[in-house]
Amino acid sequence: VLVDKGNHRHFMAKEIHEQPEVVGHTLSTFYRPMTETVELPAAPYDWAALPKVTMVACGTAHFACAVAKYWFEQVARLPAETDIASEFRYRNPPLVKGGLSIFVSQSGETIDTLTALRLAKEQGQHIAGIVNVPESAIARESDVLYPTNAGPEIGVASTKAFTCQLTTLALLAIAAGEARGSIDADERKRLTRTLAELPRLMNVALHLDEVMGEVAHDLAKARDVLYLGRGAMYPLALEGALKLKEISYIHAEGYASGELKHGPIALIDENVPVIVLAPSDELFDKTVSNMQEVMARGGRVILITDKTGAERAGDSAWHTIVMPDADPFVAPILYSIPIQLLAYHTAVAKGTDVDQPRNLAKSVTVE
Ligand code: G6P
Repeated sequence: VLVDKGNHRHFMAKEIHEQPEVVGHTLSTFYRPMTETVELPAAPYDWAALPKVTMVACGTAHFACAVAKYWFEQVARLPAETDIASEFRYRNPPLVKGGLSIFVSQSGETIDTLTALRLAKEQGQHIAGIVNVPESAIARESDVLYPTNAGPEIGVASTKAFTCQLTTLALLAIAAGEARGSIDADERKRLTRTLAELPRLMNVALHLDEVMGEVAHDLAKARDVLYLGRGAMYPLALEGALKLKEISYIHAEGYASGELKHGPIALIDENVPVIVLAPSDELFDKTVSNMQEVMARGGRVILITDKTGAERAGDSAWHTIVMPDADPFVAPILYSIPIQLLAYHTAVAKGTDVDQPRNLAKSVTVE
C-alpha cells in the first residue's frame, strides 16, 4: 500500500488526526447503531461461561490490555489478567481451563506475542486476536479474529492502532457484560452510545493541537517527567510516559496517583513536570489531593481534565488542559489524544526523528 503524509509534516501527526475516522470504522465492525447492539463473530467460546480472560501483548498494545482489564472487571464482572508477552511466555503461567486468551498487536508479527499465543494454544486456551494487519501470523493463528480498522500505521510510535485496539476491547467488554448479565439492555445502550459519540469528541479534542504545542515548548526543557492517573487512567499514564520517551527521548514514568507518596514524590521539585490525567469522575477529589502534594513541593502540574474538573481544581496548575466532557467509560480512549499530541509536539520542539526514533522498530520480529 502506498501511504503518504497528506498535509502533515509527519506520519505520526497524520495518524493522530485520523483517529476520529478510524475509530469510527473500527466501531462499525461490530456495533449496530440502529439497534445499539454489539454483534461479534461466531466463536467457539461463550462469554457467559468464561472463567477468565488473559490479555497478552507488547508495548503500547499491552497498555490497551491494561485499560481493558478495568472494563472487563467493571462492565462484565469477568476476572481479567494482562501480561507483557515476554514475561508471560517464560513464566509458565497456570491457565484456567476453558479460559480465553486475547493477543493484541498492531502488526500481528511481534515474535514474543506470537510465541505467547502458541503457548496458550498448547495449553488448551481459546485464542482471540485483536490485530491491525489481517494477513499477519497472529491473525492467522487466532481462533477468532477481532480486526482493528486503523489502516496502515507508519509512525513507529503507535497512536491510531492503540485507540482502535481500545475501541475493540471496549466493545468486547460490553458484549461480555451483556452475555454475563452484569449489564442490562439499557446499560448496554448507554455504553455503546458513549462509544458512538467518540469520533465527534475526538475531533473536539484534536482542537487542542495548538495548545499542546505551547505546553510542549515548556515540557521540552524537562529531563524527567511524571505521568499520574487513577483507575483506567493509570495505564493511560503509562502509555503517556512511553509515548514521550519513545519519540522525545525525555525520561518519563507513569504512576498510579495513589502510589505517588510511596516513592516518586521524592523526585518532585520544580524541574520535574507532573502530568495528571484526571477526568472529573468519582476519583477526582483524590487526584486533586495528590496534585496538591506535588504543588506543595514546588512541582509543576499539567492537569488534563474536563470543564468540571478544571473548576474544581482551581487555577493552581502550571497548565490546565480542558477536554470535552465524556463518560468515564470512554475517557481512556479520548484522553489518548492530548497525550499523543503532547509527545508529538515535544519531539518536534526537540528536533528528534518523530516517525523513526532511534533504536526502535515498528515491529519486533526477532527475540
Ligand atoms: C514495537 C513498537 C511499539 C509497539 C510494540 C508492539 O516495540 O515500537 O510501538 O507497541 O512493538 O507491536 P505490535 O505490532 O505487536 O502492536
